[in-house]
Amino acid sequence: MTTPIERIRRLPLFPKDASVNAAGHLTIGGCDAYDLAKEYGTPLYVYDERMLRHQCKEFVERFGGRYPDTLVCYAAKAFLNQAMAKLIMEQGLGLDVVSLGEFSIAQSVGFPPERIYFHGNNKLPEELSVALDHHIGRVVVDNLHELRLVDRLARERNMRQDILLRLTPNVDPHTHKFTTTGVLDSKFGFPMSTGQSEEALEESLALQGVNLMGLHFHLGSPIPETEPFESALQVVLEFAQEMKRKYDFDMVELSIGGGFPVSYTVDDAYPRPGVYADAIISTLSNLLLKKSLMPPRLTIEPGRAISAQAGVALYTVGALKEVPGVRKFVCVDGGMSDNIRPPLYDARYEALVANRAAEPDVQTVTIAGKLCESGDILVRDIQLPRVVPGDVIAVPVCGAYCVPMSSNYNATTRPAIVFVERGRARVVRQRETLEDLYRLDTP
Ligand code: LLP
Repeated sequence: MTTPIERIRRLPLFPKDASVNAAGHLTIGGCDAYDLAKEYGTPLYVYDERMLRHQCKEFVERFGGRYPDTLVCYAAKAFLNQAMAKLIMEQGLGLDVVSLGEFSIAQSVGFPPERIYFHGNNKLPEELSVALDHHIGRVVVDNLHELRLVDRLARERNMRQDILLRLTPNVDPHTHKFTTTGVLDSKFGFPMSTGQSEEALEESLALQGVNLMGLHFHLGSPIPETEPFESALQVVLEFAQEMKRKYDFDMVELSIGGGFPVSYTVDDAYPRPGVYADAIISTLSNLLLKKSLMPPRLTIEPGRAISAQAGVALYTVGALKEVPGVRKFVCVDGGMSDNIRPPLYDARYEALVANRAAEPDVQTVTIAGKLCESGDILVRDIQLPRVVPGDVIAVPVCGAYCVPMSSNYNATTRPAIVFVERGRARVVRQRETLEDLYRLDTP
């Protein structure tokens, strides 16, 4: 006989130890999700701390176990606040930041600057100045303008900044066009096929203010299969070999970016991090041997795969609207202001009714947000149990790119965030208040 929990197909999308308690409520990190919603209000973003740590370890072990000289840098853009920065720091990971803002959050909890990598296609002089003043680990240089800027800022400070060059190997990662980066027609990086990568490398080697440690590529996000990584490694290691021959360039470090996928729905089936580690490291090792290159430090930058599954969004059900023969809408108290991904990328999600987690599905509904746009739909055509106003909807796999891309659209206050573990919850970001919405205004 199957237990109710085994019947809940969607439960595996939630954080690893999510369960259903005797009341039939979803639990996350040992906390009753319905109680969390009542106590902290909704929309609420709940992160399972153990799962966050587990995912950090997963990448460290899968990659580091096969290639010991690996640095796992968490991509802060996927989700960062002080508690997250502290957790990443305590796990011994590095951090990929793309703005002075992300850098400042990391700095505010004492994140070691030498483990921070600065990315982005238009780093501002003031951002780079602060980064250099704090002895940031690497600047991942994106273009010639920036190369010369970093060189000048470093020389003004009588220092030499360690850099990587971001290359675009022109490999299609087969993902959404908005998040495809490693192709020729991209705003990111030095194109390889045009010869601009070689020019940048030659110039870097001649500059006194920079120390070229190695090469970086980031193909896109998410990358649903291992093959694009393997193709890009081919292209980039070929280049490294040629640059060794021509300029005696030693690639001390190679960063392959992020893009490791997660399953958002029960129909998604992507390779696990270990499969990426196997494919990437065996390709890398073979190429290094074949090309007689010294093994570089390998840097990887997972964002989504560390934080997505650990996070669950909770909403309270309000209006129910049925258009006979067309659609039943279940309206919730959040939407595209806290999760822009469905309208922006056609992202698909699943949901459970947190306080009816063990009840059978009896209807097909569409979960709509409360923002003033018809595109503000969180989940289209999902099977749910009966739902009444006041019920709590839990959307899994919301830990990455929802909170960081949230907005105050319709003057909506951004949600609170709690971390849960072993039955205890702590607020790690308070809900914005109405005053926050006009705090910076002048009447
Ligand atoms: N490294 C670099 C240089 C990146 O640009 C990114 C993501 C990552 C690492 C991390 O990628 P991840 O492991 O998280 O896939 N807003 C989009 C995703 C944009 C990703 C941008 N760059 C979304 O919601 O799907």
